[in-house]
Amino acid sequence: VGGIPQAVTMTELAKHNQRSDAWIAIRGVVFNVSRYMDFHPGGVEELMKGVGKDATKLFENVHAWVNYQSILQKCIVGRLSNEGLIDT
Ligand code: HEM
Repeated sequence: VGGIPQAVTMTELAKHNQRSDAWIAIRGVVFNVSRYMDFHPGGVEELMKGVGKDATKLFENVHAWVNYQSILQKCIVGRLSNEGLIDT
């Protein structure tokens, strides 16, 4: 692996809004939290509130101190791109 990370549009992000296919964007980085789901200390229902979205604000409202970069380092999908930009 390595190289240029995949750019994920908001449209693509929004498609992954299921418990078993759950992507979440935090501070511009998109993570696949499907496998983390059952381990989230705040529970599935809470985590699902941010799935398929840019959950930066939700995340920071509840636990801005949580080191998600470390917890989800193996779950990176790519970076969040702005709609309308070339996303390759
Ligand atoms: C608790 C991780 C996303 C809602 C926690 C805790 C961790 C964690 C480690 C325990 C914190 C502590 O006890 O100090 C994560 C990670 C996320 C994420 C890595 C990245 C995807 C979210 C989102 C929401 C949320 C998007 C809500 C919209 C909560 C709530 C608690 C919690 C409400 C508190 C549970 C309680 O103490 O009763 N989360 N979380 N989390 N999380 Fe998350």
